[in-house]
Amino acid sequence: MCGIVGYIGNEQAAPFLLDGLKKLEYRGYDSAGIAVYNDSGIDVEKVKGRIKVLSDMLQGGTRVKGSLGIGHTRWATHGKPSDINSHPHMSETGNFAVVHNGIIENHMKLKNHLQELGKSFVSDTDTEVVAHLLDHFYKGDILDAIIKVINMVEGSYALGIICKDDPDTLYAVRKDNPLIIGLGKHENFIASDIPAILEKTRDIYRMQDNEIAEIKRESVTVYNMAKEVIPFEPYHVNWDIGAAEKGGYEHFMLKEIMEQPKAIQDTISPRIKNGKIVLDEMNLTPEELNRFQKIVIVACGSSYHVGVVSKYVIEKLARIPVEVDLASEFRYRDPLVDETSLVIAISQSGETADTLEALREAKRRGAKVISVVNVVGSSIAMESDGVLYTWAGPEISVATTKAYSTQLAMLYMIAIYLAKQRNRIDDAAYDHYVSELQRLPSLVEQALQNKEVVQYVASRHFNAKSIFFIGRNIDYALSLEGSLKLKEISYIHSEAYAAGELKHGTISLIEDGTLVVALATCKKLFDKTMSNAVEVKTRGACILGLTTEGNEKINDVADHVFYVPEAEELFMPSLAVIPLQLFAYYIALMKNCDIDNPRNLAKSVTVE
Ligand code: M6R
Repeated sequence: MCGIVGYIGNEQAAPFLLDGLKKLEYRGYDSAGIAVYNDSGIDVEKVKGRIKVLSDMLQGGTRVKGSLGIGHTRWATHGKPSDINSHPHMSETGNFAVVHNGIIENHMKLKNHLQELGKSFVSDTDTEVVAHLLDHFYKGDILDAIIKVINMVEGSYALGIICKDDPDTLYAVRKDNPLIIGLGKHENFIASDIPAILEKTRDIYRMQDNEIAEIKRESVTVYNMAKEVIPFEPYHVNWDIGAAEKGGYEHFMLKEIMEQPKAIQDTISPRIKNGKIVLDEMNLTPEELNRFQKIVIVACGSSYHVGVVSKYVIEKLARIPVEVDLASEFRYRDPLVDETSLVIAISQSGETADTLEALREAKRRGAKVISVVNVVGSSIAMESDGVLYTWAGPEISVATTKAYSTQLAMLYMIAIYLAKQRNRIDDAAYDHYVSELQRLPSLVEQALQNKEVVQYVASRHFNAKSIFFIGRNIDYALSLEGSLKLKEISYIHSEAYAAGELKHGTISLIEDGTLVVALATCKKLFDKTMSNAVEVKTRGACILGLTTEGNEKINDVADHVFYVPEAEELFMPSLAVIPLQLFAYYIALMKNCDIDNPRNLAKSVTVE
């Protein structure tokens, strides 16, 4: 949801800013811009379109001189994508340049007020008020002006600011949006995410809400809103830069699909000691674990889909009721959670605005909140009572794959752990589930071998207008993800349906040749799912079945079949998702879609 970079040092800023923006393009890509301080003031260059358009326009940055600058790649919220609505935004005097990620919710009120004071606006963005307000409050002390502005604006923001009067300082502020400071030698950086600056430094400070950073070439000072200097603790990033690069793959998505065995392994193995699951990171006492009367899972998108799968697994193993809520709905429905509820927030980025607010709402109501998060130190992680990190490594493709798989593995672990703590399974069952969990990485590796059949089926159906995914029980939960993956990157309309529910209305959409993907890994419901597949086949549908290796019965109904290795039935989504991810990928590839950066989307959704 918009990416920010900033540089102050002795090198030319523009080439670095463009390179950093390229690494943040997954956050938004409808327009881009930079502002660089030089002898003639602040040079702002911005344009609608991808970073490449900006980079070509600026000859890779060589056209813009100066060693202090800020940059932005945009995912439009207020004001359509256009040159003028692109960031950076300038104050009317040309004194301040601002890049912003987030939403200034009271911008209309502030804009009216500023217009009454005679300021004229050039863009339709909410951000422009920040630039004008800075000018309005600036009386010689930039920090004072920033604090006054922050006290006036409502909403969420990460801001990068430079001022014509101060050639030696880059300012940064955050609230409810990620912003990191990179600490270099004779140079420092800001960015929305680590990959943008990893080639320059591995020493990072993740800014906290309501902190203001004054960043110079040789120093970084962090202030609170009372303008007091506060200590900050940088940390060292130890993942390899290759993790954030394509490494020979055509797309990040394919690379990340192929990384899943390792990502799952990295997530589960540190938490299994002598055959026992250890989840001290949950920060919950055995008494608390036994006291909870229900679990509420809050999340968005694919993370929500992980929650839906988990409901089946946790209820089956731990025998505790699980509600799964879309975070955006949970927030406003006066939810029934209190100190007897355990709330689990699931988020790859750890910055999704709705999930973060749902977490806060749950805490206000007295619930314990644990989170399952991929980005270390992110807002959701920091605000939870306990955090279980998925060790998927950086996920760049907008369509999640390895984060989904590691979240699933983490939730299985929570289910087995709760079941044991609450005495719902005996030792033999416990050992069985733990060893099945440990088999997952190698089984996923095997599932990844069957790419050819997926490619073949994709080649037969990439022109489809609409594709349906059906399943029962945990297969239904997985169908939600199969359908989302397909539609988000291939733009083919798709719906996921509980197989038994189709005939209650949606079956009217089935026409001759409509592809219906029937997920059938659940043995006891196999025949019922096949009956539902026959119902649509009778009405002209083409059936793509998905089941476990060796199940030949599916050929009686299905026109094509994806086979996956067999595992513990509750964990089958981890295997069945593999051909579904590959199917979406190959269809999008055949349609020549922009796979890593699908239209209208952004990787991290930090606005409501
Ligand atoms: O970072 P989060 O896991 O909180 O993000 C939630 C969704 O925005 C995300 O899963 C989205 O649905 C993915 N692009 C789907 O591939």
